[in-house]
Amino acid sequence: MSQALDGVRILDFTHVQSGPTCTQLLAWFGADVIKVERAGAGDITREQLRDIPDVDSLYFTMLNHNKRSVTIDTKNPEGKQVLEALIQKCDVLVENFAPGALDRMGFTWERIQELNPRMIVASVKGFGPGPYEDCKVYENVAQCAGGAASTTGFDDGPPVVTGAQIGDSGTGLHLALGIVTALFQRTQTGRGQRVLAAMQDGVLNLCRVKLRDQQRLERNGQMKEYPQYPNGTFGEAVPRAGNASGGGQPGWILKCKGWETDPNAYIYFITQAPVWAKICSVIGKEEWATHPDYATPAARLPHLKDIFAEIERWTMTKTKFEAMQILNKYDIPCGPILSMKEIAEEPSLRKTGTIVEVDHPTRGKYLTVGNPIKLSDSPTEVKRSPLLGEHTDEVMAELGYSPEQISALRTAGAI
Ligand code: COA
Repeated sequence: MSQALDGVRILDFTHVQSGPTCTQLLAWFGADVIKVERAGAGDITREQLRDIPDVDSLYFTMLNHNKRSVTIDTKNPEGKQVLEALIQKCDVLVENFAPGALDRMGFTWERIQELNPRMIVASVKGFGPGPYEDCKVYENVAQCAGGAASTTGFDDGPPVVTGAQIGDSGTGLHLALGIVTALFQRTQTGRGQRVLAAMQDGVLNLCRVKLRDQQRLERNGQMKEYPQYPNGTFGEAVPRAGNASGGGQPGWILKCKGWETDPNAYIYFITQAPVWAKICSVIGKEEWATHPDYATPAARLPHLKDIFAEIERWTMTKTKFEAMQILNKYDIPCGPILSMKEIAEEPSLRKTGTIVEVDHPTRGKYLTVGNPIKLSDSPTEVKRSPLLGEHTDEVMAELGYSPEQISALRTAGAI
């Protein structure tokens, strides 16, 4: 079966996590992704957090599936010529170098347009134009600058970063959407364009509800669904909300049977208004269904702590899976806190291709997260990540270089 991005060629100048997340997605949708790396070194993540000596790390393999790898020294004059040939042949150049690195290499937007006016140049940067535009940025810097850290954690503790890589992988996702949108516009204009996804902007986009709350706080001085209400104090900025749901239906994380020894024996429980009577019945507090202090969502707000304490008395008598089964019978929204071990072993995720086992020539078998976006007419087959420079000769031949020229370029250190 054909794939959605068949025929699209991506010159992949990305490294670490944010850019590679983006180009991996494009590869999964069928684009030919040619990853350019420095000979002898490659993407720094090949050697970071290694679990097996001298073997590409899981950090690298899990972010670079379905790509081809070529080595080019883009600071070498002959290497630059190879890169120019690739720019002329590709549709999109994706990069997440430090600000200005592409220009310093000699590949300004103007130069790229001269070489290929249809080229889309897509970049991840830490910040957009402004005071921090020249800064190098990693995941947690973006989480802090994008509003996630100040709103994550408990109200009596310090800011906390989340394990979800919303700065890196989140921005990679934003960039991928920008690229396919620019490709679509190119079908009408015939022109390339620049696409920028700044990590601060990407994180803030994902923290949109917190900017909503900032404005509600400024208007009313308090937010009744936050755990600080009614007895705590609200300051000038949106406080950390612990495990409060962030939406209109109050929720919290509650202990389940075994919590004393299992750090993940917890469940997320949502007191959705339409099923309040069922919740009361399940936990044995039938009288709360009609009691004036508990019967309506507004009446319940000042009592949320007590309500969750009471529900927890019930959840602590069940494992998280037992509770999940019982609650779902009554359409009570809840979610077990799944450990990575449980997720890795979950058969349904294997079945849908969300967790995939991949075989690698030097690493052997490993698990990865497959394409989370499923297209019915463009199925994804996850293929292992390339070894460093594995496809240099193949790609050079496609560019028209003879075996002799390839070997001369190699001797000159250009590839
Ligand atoms: N041949 C020759 N030189 C190459 C090359 C190649 N194939 N590939 C990269 N380089 C050079 C670059 O030109 C750059 O040189 P310069 O500093 O002389 O201009 C150099 O390698 C290093 O690139 P840089 O991006 O500065 O790497 P770094 O390891 O110092 O910084 C980041 C890493 C992630 C902090 C930085 O790239 C960054 O801020 N990126 C944007 C934000 C981002 O994506 N962050 C999240 C990463 S997950």
